[in-house]
Order: sequence, then structure tokens, then C-alpha cells
Amino acid sequence: MTFDEFVKIRDYIYRKSGIFFEDNKQYYVEKRVRDRMAATGHQSFQGYFLSLRFESSNKEWQELINALTVNETYFFREYPQLKCFAEEVIPKMLEKKAAQGQNPVKLKIWSAGCSTGEEPYTLAIILKEMTEGIVSAPVTFEIHATDINTDVLDRAKTRLYGQRSVKDVPNEYMGKYFRRRGQMYELSAQMASHVKFYQLNLLDSAAMERMDNFDAIFCRNVLIYFDDNSRREVALYFHAALVEGGYMFLGHSESMSRVTSVYKMVRLKNAIIYQK
Ligand SMILES: C[S@@+](CC[C@H](N)C(=O)[O-])C[C@H]1O[C@@H](n2cnc3c(N)ncnc32)[C@H](O)[C@@H]1O
Repeated sequence: MTFDEFVKIRDYIYRKSGIFFEDNKQYYVEKRVRDRMAATGHQSFQGYFLSLRFESSNKEWQELINALTVNETYFFREYPQLKCFAEEVIPKMLEKKAAQGQNPVKLKIWSAGCSTGEEPYTLAIILKEMTEGIVSAPVTFEIHATDINTDVLDRAKTRLYGQRSVKDVPNEYMGKYFRRRGQMYELSAQMASHVKFYQLNLLDSAAMERMDNFDAIFCRNVLIYFDDNSRREVALYFHAALVEGGYMFLGHSESMSRVTSVYKMVRLKNAIIYQK
């Protein structure tokens, strides 16, 4: 692949997904494009790129983006931030809704860029454990878990995880919510019933505009692969999708301040989060 060819396909990927590959990522992209060329029987980059752009089914685009995304994740990732969510944010959200007279109190949470499901399932465990006894009304919650990559969503639905994924799950929850299946650990179906998985591209304006009324959005370690323009675009969709006063959680190395000023920065005991 020549540098010009790399630039062509990198710009195409960027326009469609927001993911921006720097020049030093040429080898990473080239390796995956070559694999897709071999799988589809294309000898020339030109031929592959043409068929990618003009296919009506989007099938090859889906295969390519599945191969290109980085899906690293594990349960209870960024524990201090989750502790803040559990101990400081959940009580605030519940008390506000109860004071407004909601009964039952309902929470709607979004894990955007959920990969193989560890993040939304972690949130389900936390919500199950931490929403009891705070307000007198019964509490229900639903978690929307979305990703551009269809392979990871299929894996999430199996509820099966290896040792690496569950290494940070507190022992108490391991016994309560997981069952050993050979070398793997299976998350209880009851926990999974709170989580709805579906495909969503964060740059798909029509789909993003349909997302609404979220009390909190987690988009952690996703926008690090975007550039500032696509980050800003997504940050504004999230802002519109949040309820007034809703909370936005980014990864610990990420910040909203450089991207947009529409959020209020909130310093909690062990984490910085953003609020509409
Ligand atoms: C590194 S994982 C982060 C998983 C989890 N949020 C965490 O922090 O552990 C990044 C995920 O973002 C997804 N992603 C990247 N670009 C996306 C886009 N345009 N729309 C939706 N998901 C995207 C990838 O497929 C990948 O599963």
C-alpha cells in the first residue's frame, strides 16, 4: 500500500466512523486492509477500495471496521471513577428523581463504545448493588450498550469471559454474579436482562439524534481514537441525549474541556466528571 493509498482509506474511515489513524498507524491499517483484500479476493488496492465505497450492502465496510477497532476492556475498569458513580452520583440521581415524585424511580444509562460488554455489565452490577435503600420508592434501571463493531456485540451477548476480563471483579461479586464454565466465567442471565445491546455508530447523526433521556452516559476510552472535530461532534450528540443535569463519564486520560464548553466540570472525591 502506498502512502497515498493509505491516506485515501484513512480519510474514508475517518469520515464514516470518526476514528483517525495518524501517519504512524499505516502498518496497522495496511495489515488489516490486506487481510480483507485476501478474504474478498481482491488483488489490487484500487479494486478493493472501489468495491468498498460503492457496495450497497455495507457488508465489507462492517468487516473492515470490525477488524480496525481496538476493543480492549475489562470489568470494573477505572475503579475510582466507578466508586464515585456508585457512592456519589447514584444517590444524587435517585434523590432528585424521588423528589420530583417519580415512583418507581427509573434510571436510564448508556455505555457508548461498550466493546465486549464488560463496561455495561459492570454498571448493571453496580446499579443492582447500590440503588437499594437510598429512596423509599422502588428503583428500576436500564442500560443501553452500543458499539460500531458487530463482532464484539455478539461476544457480549454470550456473557462468557476469560480470566483477564474478570481479574478486577471484587470477590464478593464474583461469587454472586458469575459461574465457572470450564476456563471461562459466565455472567448471570438476570444481570444481563438489564442491558440492551445494539449497533450504533457515534457519527451516525440520525441514530444519535434518536438517543434521549439518559441520566448518565459512559463513553470511556473511545474518543481517544477520534480527532478533535469528531470528538466535538459526538460530545454535542451526547449533550443532547442527556437529561438536564445528566452526567458524562470519559476515560481518565480524556477531557471535555479542550473539546467543548457545553458541559460543567465536576470534581468528585476520586474522579472528574462532566454534567449537562
Ligand atoms: C477500547 S474500547 C473501550 C471499551 C470500554 N468503553 C472501556 O472503557 O473499557 C473502544 C470501543 O469503541 C468502539 N468504537 C470506536 N469507534 C466507534 C464509533 N464511531 N461508534 C461506536 N463505537 C465505536 C470500538 O469498536 C471499541 O469497542
